[in-house]
Amino acid sequence: MNHSVPPLKLGVCGLGTVASGLIELITQNPARISERAGRPLSITRIASRTPRPARMPAHAEFSTDLAALIDDPEVDVVVELIGGVEPAHSLIERALELGKPVVTANKEVLARHGDALFLRASARGVPIGFEASVGGGIPIIKAVRESLGGDEISRIVGIVNGTTNFILSRMDEDGASFEDALAEAKALGYAEAVPDYDIEGVDAAHKVAILASLAWGIPFDVGEVHMQGIAGIDRDDLAFARRLGYVVRHLGLAQKAETHIETCVFPALVPKSNLLGSVCGVTNAVEVTSRALGKSLFIGAGAGALPTANSVLSDVLDIANGRSVKRLPSHGRERVADSQSCATYYLRAQADDKTGVLARLTDLLAGQGIGIDALLQPEIDAALGSPSAASIVLITHATEESRMRQAVSRIQAIPEIRGPVSLIRVFEGE
Ligand code: HSE
Repeated sequence: MNHSVPPLKLGVCGLGTVASGLIELITQNPARISERAGRPLSITRIASRTPRPARMPAHAEFSTDLAALIDDPEVDVVVELIGGVEPAHSLIERALELGKPVVTANKEVLARHGDALFLRASARGVPIGFEASVGGGIPIIKAVRESLGGDEISRIVGIVNGTTNFILSRMDEDGASFEDALAEAKALGYAEAVPDYDIEGVDAAHKVAILASLAWGIPFDVGEVHMQGIAGIDRDDLAFARRLGYVVRHLGLAQKAETHIETCVFPALVPKSNLLGSVCGVTNAVEVTSRALGKSLFIGAGAGALPTANSVLSDVLDIANGRSVKRLPSHGRERVADSQSCATYYLRAQADDKTGVLARLTDLLAGQGIGIDALLQPEIDAALGSPSAASIVLITHATEESRMRQAVSRIQAIPEIRGPVSLIRVFEGE
């Protein structure tokens, strides 16, 4: 390490899970971190709206005044780990305006305001590091932007939300209830401050918007990502999926079609034999398909204090070493459009166990031109607590989503159908 180089002084905004992880990483082995930074590295100032923490790095000043941290001339690099849009967005804007490099884990701010922020950063000649915004500890930003920078990416698909994968795994493998699994994900620091963001697919949509922008140089725009979460999935779906050879995963998908880019997040039946199907717990996995490399899979801890902090720290080290990428790819002119590609679907309906209901349901699908690929024998559904109810479970041939949804609303209107009909896309991983 060159001791003649002045130290790089960090100002950390926020004191949640990731900030605590960052403090731990930097304070546990300062000599090694400074060695990697090529100069001493210190957390000079921490600001948070919550009170002063019990454990603080030595010499770090604490205050609840976030704006003062940004303006402090003693702060060289601003590390924004507050989450949410405001005040995080304004603080990042201000830091860039002052010519300070920013490191952030804030996927929402980037997915909503990324274009303007990168314009501002480039005008001031400073970088924004955002490795921690997607995939937690997986270096997927670097992989897509730098390692695959010369390749032509055609598709990015994967598990990009650790909380939903954790919930689905706990429900499926351990029989946990949705509520208990979510409470556990919260306690472990995986869930967003507003857990609906995880459950409804909002967080995954932010991440897909970021990856699509990097892959094809299109504007950051979460508004275009077709969004579906896991709220409607219950344990019966997971059990039936298993019997059919699948597991349920929440996927993010961005792919290049002939004339546009499709972006969506959705729960899907994934074959147990598929690599994504074997990804459990908080783990994230992103499969990238590109012309030169073919398929590559990036896998690792998708949330949590130390994994995410490691991504933040890697951005800080890049800044310390003057090797941050300041420019984003901006060659794409493709329009982002809703996915209308065909898919096969899993459908489950609970019905009164009366003769003719199954026939009505299958006739209705046939009437919409939807073929059936697999059908489980209707079963008396003990879970319903009534011997007169049965579950009808089937997998369709490939069909358009709009046609499938129309059919489901008609099935839902059959008087013998009880409760909501489950409809889950099948992703074979082709
Ligand atoms: N809530 C997010 C997740 C945190 O579960 O993936 C990491 O971005």
